[in-house]
Parts: sequence; structure tokens; C-alpha cells
Amino acid sequence: MAIRTILHYPDTRLRNKGLPVEAVSPAIHQLIDDMAETMYAAPGVGLAATQIGEALSIFLIDIAGEDQPSDLRVFINPEIVKREGNQSWEEGCLSFPGVSEDIKRAERVTVRALDRDGKPFELEADGLLAVAIQHEYDHLMGVLMIDHVGPLKKRMMARTVQKTIGSERRA
Ligand code: NI
Repeated sequence: MAIRTILHYPDTRLRNKGLPVEAVSPAIHQLIDDMAETMYAAPGVGLAATQIGEALSIFLIDIAGEDQPSDLRVFINPEIVKREGNQSWEEGCLSFPGVSEDIKRAERVTVRALDRDGKPFELEADGLLAVAIQHEYDHLMGVLMIDHVGPLKKRMMARTVQKTIGSERRA
């Protein structure tokens, strides 16, 4: 396993779409293991393959709290087939260091995907899990949290990322 470099906004590779995974091969398992290690090291609650420059339709989510056992969920070739209701959460993103912003999302989603073994599953989710699924699914469409806010907040978010990266480099 290896920790991979997470791309930061405005890296144009974050706009690439995740292409369907043809077969859940050993190479895909290797990529998933790298993604998990990268996500936990960050640390973050979700990571899409496009965030590490791999244009494949895969994301991982683990929303377990710090004092809870890990609960890694793997989504390969995910498809959100139903969205209901509205909610707003303060979201962060590993590609936007230092940024947290209220984003409007559906309250409940139904997602179909393949698991780590390539087995199809369907999941109905609400609350934080539904938010995380929509956030990561956006990544696979080349859509970022900055696309959900107005022009003033866009500028502030871009500036916060630059400042945060700058101070990390100096540290
Ligand atoms: Ni993100």
C-alpha cells in the first residue's frame, strides 16, 4: 500500500470524469488499498479516485467517528438512482484544504454500485452518509464543492486553499 498525492483545487485533473471500471482486478484492489491508506492518513471521511489523478469510477467512504471501529465502504461504478428531500451540511474536501462550507444536498439517496469484490449492491442512505455519497459521486462527474456556491464564496474558497497550502509548505 502507498499513500498517494491528493490533488488540490484548481488542479484541472479534478475535472476529469471517473471512467467505468471494466473488471475488479488485482490492480483495482491495489488502487482501493492505496486510496484507503491515503484517506485515513489525511484524514478524511471520503476519497474519490479522481482526487489522486486516477480517472476511474471508484470512491471510498468511512464516516465512523474517531472512537468507533472503522467502517470502510467501497463504491465501484456507483450510480445515484434516487434523490429525495433537502439538507444542508458543513462540508469539507481533501482537495480544498482549510475550507468548510454549507452545501445543499438531497436528504436521502439510493445508490447502486459494486463492492470491493465486484458484487452489486444497493444502499439507501440519509444524513451524513447521504451527503458523503453525493459529494464523492460529484467528484466522479468532475464536479467540485466550489460549483455549489455563489461567485463571492467561490473566490473565498479559492483563496483559503491557496493560503492553507502556502502555510503547509512553509511549515
Ligand atoms: Ni471532496
